[in-house]
Amino acid sequence: MTDQHQPEPSSAPAPDLFTWEFAANPYPAYAWLREHAPVRRTRLPSGVEAWLVTRYGDARQALADQRLSKNPAHHDEPAHAKGKTGIPGERKAELMTHLLNIDPPDHTRLRRLVSKAFTPRRVAEFAPRVRELTDDLIGRFAGRGSADLIHEFAFPLPIHAICDLLGVPREDQDDFRDWAGMMIRHQGGPRGGVARSVKMMRGYLSELIHRKREALPAEPGPGEDLISGLIRASDHGEHLTENEAAAMAFILLFAGFETTVNLIGNGMYALLTHPGQRARLQRSLAAGERGLLATGVEELLRFDGPVELATWRFATQPLTLGGQDIAAGDPVLVVLAAADRDPERFADPDTLDLSRRDNQHLGYGHGVHYCLGAPLARLEGQTALATLLTRLPDLRLAVEPGELRWRGGLIMRGLRTLPVEFTPQGENGT
Ligand code: HEM
Repeated sequence: MTDQHQPEPSSAPAPDLFTWEFAANPYPAYAWLREHAPVRRTRLPSGVEAWLVTRYGDARQALADQRLSKNPAHHDEPAHAKGKTGIPGERKAELMTHLLNIDPPDHTRLRRLVSKAFTPRRVAEFAPRVRELTDDLIGRFAGRGSADLIHEFAFPLPIHAICDLLGVPREDQDDFRDWAGMMIRHQGGPRGGVARSVKMMRGYLSELIHRKREALPAEPGPGEDLISGLIRASDHGEHLTENEAAAMAFILLFAGFETTVNLIGNGMYALLTHPGQRARLQRSLAAGERGLLATGVEELLRFDGPVELATWRFATQPLTLGGQDIAAGDPVLVVLAAADRDPERFADPDTLDLSRRDNQHLGYGHGVHYCLGAPLARLEGQTALATLLTRLPDLRLAVEPGELRWRGGLIMRGLRTLPVEFTPQGENGT
């Protein structure tokens, strides 16, 4: 645990946050914050002021603190910032009812219902489909000797995977690809296109759920899709309403898409820039072992995970965190990326060690909102990285690392493109 007192103010100048330089490598700025101002009130690019929490102990505590609500209605929003904060749910009432915007007991009820349908077993049964999708995507560029791993691989894999899992018919999945592309491309930029895409997705899902409900057989058949499972799920005789099921399907898509793009993108980038670790993983895969792959993907989540800041939380009453007083109504943002490099918790935190054992990272969050999709994310991340390294063994970056551009969004951390080269592979994989 961290000590509970704010350190003495330092004479070292505070780093600039949210610049392009910061987006490329936020870790030195986070080290400064952890040391000098671990719970710090900060003006965000949107103009909203929020508390940034950067130490591991404080971060874990904040994520589990029931006095910090996920409901944006608790935000004491200044009049001049009304509607401009970019805080989801403050603008669109229809987005309010999903898991990441509600608290217990409503959250407990919805999470219990979805957990009955989105089970680890369902994910395990989905493994062959993820392998098939992965192989198919790699097959499209393997013969060319070059690719952009974000657009041609990391991006389509999770969108098709979640669509398949939910039961979105294949012929409609290209629409989802377009809507998701709009959402990811325009993040941090103009919101009109994003809002339109969200609306289209929500509309489509509501209609699909309605259709599936009408045609639902009395007993579940083998391989029944997740939307049918959501409609069927019941707890003490309670079911999800059609609206709740649509909000749930939407949050599964929304929460499981860009995160997985970034797990594959950031993870592959880290491997390509740490040749010793990458060679170790390739040797272990060639020997038919999976142990290093499993610990390795967890380490990649800790080292440079997809979710830089946990989603918004709001103080429902005055509280003290890390020795800092926080007023009721104040927004709090837990910086997972800073907490996961805290030297008080992790030995050599800036070193990538794929075999790290003591690795209780916060990349999937903590507490009641802990990532519901973690088993699927692990399956996709492990399959994607292992298959790339096995099928394209001499994969290398096609540009200098300094030329790569990172997306400037607040919550997520990920690359815009990841150009790579490799020896072209023949039809039979040679
Ligand atoms: C919640 C990370 C993939 C569905 C979360 C949270 C984190 C996270 C940090 C908690 C946010 C908070 O407390 O503010 C990740 C990472 C992923 C990933 C790093 C990929 C590598 C997925 C996938 C799905 C998913 C594939 C589903 C298909 C969800 C849902 C929640 C959530 C529904 C909300 C849970 C709740 O509020 O009870 N995720 N996620 N995630 N994640 Fe993930």
